[in-house]
Amino acid sequence: MIEQERYKRVMAQYPTGIAVISVADGHGGITGLTASSFTSVSLNPPLVLFCTAYDTDSFPHLQREPHFAINVLAEDQTDLAWQFAGSERDKGLAAPHLIRASGTPVLTGALAVIECEKHFVYPGGDHAIVVGRVVGLDLDQGRRPLLYWRGNLSGFQTPGTGSDGNTA
Ligand SMILES: Cc1cc2nc3c(=O)[nH]c(=O)nc-3n(C[C@H](O)[C@H](O)[C@H](O)COP(=O)(O)O)c2cc1C
Repeated sequence: MIEQERYKRVMAQYPTGIAVISVADGHGGITGLTASSFTSVSLNPPLVLFCTAYDTDSFPHLQREPHFAINVLAEDQTDLAWQFAGSERDKGLAAPHLIRASGTPVLTGALAVIECEKHFVYPGGDHAIVVGRVVGLDLDQGRRPLLYWRGNLSGFQTPGTGSDGNTA
C-alpha cells in the first residue's frame, strides 16, 4: 500500500517546468489551471499531454472546447502560476492575454506557447490525460523558465551559485 503523502513527497523530487493550461471560458475570456504534468509525446505527428484532476473547474471547459494552449511560464511569472493554481471563478480576468484566431486564449509574456487542438482524452485514475495535437508554436528565446521542485517555484540558479557551494 502506497501512502499518499509519501507518494507526493517522492514525486516532488522530480523537477519540472511550470505551465498554465489556458482554455476559453465560454464567455470570451480565459480560464485554466497551473500544471507541472506537461510533457511532449510524439514528434510525428506533434503531440503533447498534460494531466488534469477530473474535479478541476477547468475540466468541463477542456471537455467542451476543441482547442487549448500550454503557456510555459518564465521565471518572473510566479504570480500567474499561483493565480491559475487557485480556484477563483474569474482568475483569468487580470491575466494579460490575447485570443488567437482559433478562439484559444494565450498568456502574453510566456517563455513559450504551444497551441493545441484537442486530440484525445484518456482516463488516468483520478486524473484525465489530455493529449493535444500541436497547431501553433511561439518562443521568446530571451526568457528563462520558472521551475518547480519540492513544492517550490523558482528560477534557475546560475551555475556556480548553487547552495552546495560547487562551482560548475
Ligand atoms: C506547481 C503546481 C503544479 C500543478 N500541477 C497540476 C497538474 O499537473 N494537474 C492538475 O490537475 N493540477 C495541478 N495543480 C493544481 C491546479 O493548478 C489547481 O487544482 C487549480 O485550482 C485548478 O484550477 P481550476 O479548478 O480553476 O481548474 C498544480 C498546482 C501547482 C501549484
